[in-house]
Amino acid sequence: MADKYAVVGNPVAHSLSPQIHAEFARRTGQDMLYTTILAALDGFRAAVLKFRDEGGKGLNVTLPFKREAWNLVQSHAAYALDANAVNTIVFRNSSMIGHNTDGIGLVTDLERNLQFPIRSKRVLLMGAGGATYGVMHPILDAGPALLVVANRTLDKAVRLVAHFQKFGKLASGGISAKPYADLAHMQFDLVINATSASLNDELPPLPGDVFAPAGLAYDMVYGKLTPFLRFAREHGAARVADGLGMLVEQAAESFFIWRGVRPETKPVIDLLRREAEG
Ligand code: ATR
Repeated sequence: MADKYAVVGNPVAHSLSPQIHAEFARRTGQDMLYTTILAALDGFRAAVLKFRDEGGKGLNVTLPFKREAWNLVQSHAAYALDANAVNTIVFRNSSMIGHNTDGIGLVTDLERNLQFPIRSKRVLLMGAGGATYGVMHPILDAGPALLVVANRTLDKAVRLVAHFQKFGKLASGGISAKPYADLAHMQFDLVINATSASLNDELPPLPGDVFAPAGLAYDMVYGKLTPFLRFAREHGAARVADGLGMLVEQAAESFFIWRGVRPETKPVIDLLRREAEG
């Protein structure tokens, strides 16, 4: 019988994860079945335990449950501990191990797919919510020249930077929190939008001169030219990219954790891109 996996969220019907994992399984010859689970907002724990008791092997966790998953698992692997969020669960005997593959997904998309090495680059991360927590440590591990976190509510960025200060040395110029207004006259090689602004067709209040020549603007939201990516194009960013590659790469990392096999990602990114544009 096929090994069972699922993504649990609310809402979850829009998730591309079942399609991505079905493609990975087909291409690597893995016998697995990947479905969606819609959990009630107060029913995450019950949904996870039910799936496990029915023989499920592992879960992906999406919004709004990543923090709850972090609290639920008995141990945190690799980047999950600092991220304060878990997006991948492995069931082992009666125990649950939590991983976070979002940051690895982002860094892999940037460095391998987009051929943009982070080492020695000036990086601006916009937003100080869960999406930013998930990617901070992997970005720092890639060795940027400096990392600035900008947020409308400065206090949240300050707290986030304090949380990751122990890894501050990984960026030669350190990490800092700033309000958007303080970015005027600063330039960055890589500007990443980890806010939820794009979901509401909004643009963070970014000064127009932040994009260094040859810079890359990256939006974690996928499937559309967001107001941020449009703004970046109009203000001198050499390249823009949405988060579709990150989505597929974080899935590939989860797949590897579960199955011990690394799927090829490019054909799946190309397939989803064609479908999104079709
Ligand atoms: P997530 O878990 O997806 O990161 P979140 O924790 O609700 O979601 O955080 C959303 C982030 O997007 C916050 O950093 C928020 O900024 P504030 O903390 O100042 O609210 C940011 N955000 C949302 N809409 C935005 C907008 N229009 N402009 C700038 N930042 C925005």
